[in-house]
Amino acid sequence: MLDKIKQLIAEITGFSACNLEEVEQFRIKHLSKKGTIALLFEDFKNVPGDQKKDIGKALNELKTAAQTKINELKEQLCETDNGTSGVDLTLPGDSLKTGTRHPLSIVRNEILSIFDKLGFTISEGPEIEDDWHVFSALNFPEEHPARDMQDTFFIEKQPDILLRTHTSSVQVRDMETHPLPIRLVTPGRVFRNEAISARAHCMFHQIEALYIDENVSFADLKQTLTYFAKELFGPDTQIRLRPSYFPFTEPSAEMDVSCSLCHGKGCNVCKGSGWLEILGCGMVDPNVLELNGIDKEKYTGFALGMGIERITMLKYGIKDLRLFFENDLRFLEQFSAVV
Ligand code: DAH
Repeated sequence: MLDKIKQLIAEITGFSACNLEEVEQFRIKHLSKKGTIALLFEDFKNVPGDQKKDIGKALNELKTAAQTKINELKEQLCETDNGTSGVDLTLPGDSLKTGTRHPLSIVRNEILSIFDKLGFTISEGPEIEDDWHVFSALNFPEEHPARDMQDTFFIEKQPDILLRTHTSSVQVRDMETHPLPIRLVTPGRVFRNEAISARAHCMFHQIEALYIDENVSFADLKQTLTYFAKELFGPDTQIRLRPSYFPFTEPSAEMDVSCSLCHGKGCNVCKGSGWLEILGCGMVDPNVLELNGIDKEKYTGFALGMGIERITMLKYGIKDLRLFFENDLRFLEQFSAVV
């Protein structure tokens, strides 16, 4: 029996394992209730009295050797565990905080992609402009009260350099340089000398569309507007055109869409009317075509322009325009689900 014990001690001390599973198998083989060591302890009662002392001692050594081996192997395997000992690799990782698109960018992109489907390409122009591109070339006569419609930030007098009050100035630049036909959308920032409030700001964003070709008619404008409104606010959306005035279009109109919140029934957003005003539009005034060197006998065109802030507020039920520019994450993160 002593030989058997010594043989087992040699086997146990020489044992090595590649993983904790092998260590567990080793424990079961030697230290479980039916393991090799337990069986030897059972045989111990048959050992003659004069050998009991030596064999008893050897048996205890065997048991200690097995226990020590297991502890050593466990420690070793945990340390070589890619330096991650003590880390629970089954826990889910920390999620990375991704940024969100600004609501104005979301709506701007949405509007641009609707016009993209109609074949309109994007055109951009300078924010610091001259009087010609913002007013004169758009049929605003000198000293005409229509210039008061837009409170302008002037930078220099003579020649007049100013911050553009609308992106219609880009239309002028396009008419100067772009070959006909023209089918462009012009997104950008505009500036007006207005007191900042929940409904107005001195800086906001517009998108305009300009289409000039032979035989462009008001019916084309109306069809484009209907398609645009249904794409942006949903297929059930209705539009209505109210006569209006802009110096650069004749005839001019303002477009309302049926309120997407109350579906025309009347609510506090549409002030009970069931309609929301969202853009200005019209047929490009022949004077504007002429001022920009386009043959007004051969070509006609339509134009439309809208404020992105207003549409975003209507789409998402936002009541204060200042929220767009405060960089408050609690506000901005609400748009994380929208691409
Ligand atoms: N430029 C106008 C504004 O800022 C909006 C506008 C109205 C643009 C009619 C257009 C248009 O192109 O046809 O108030």
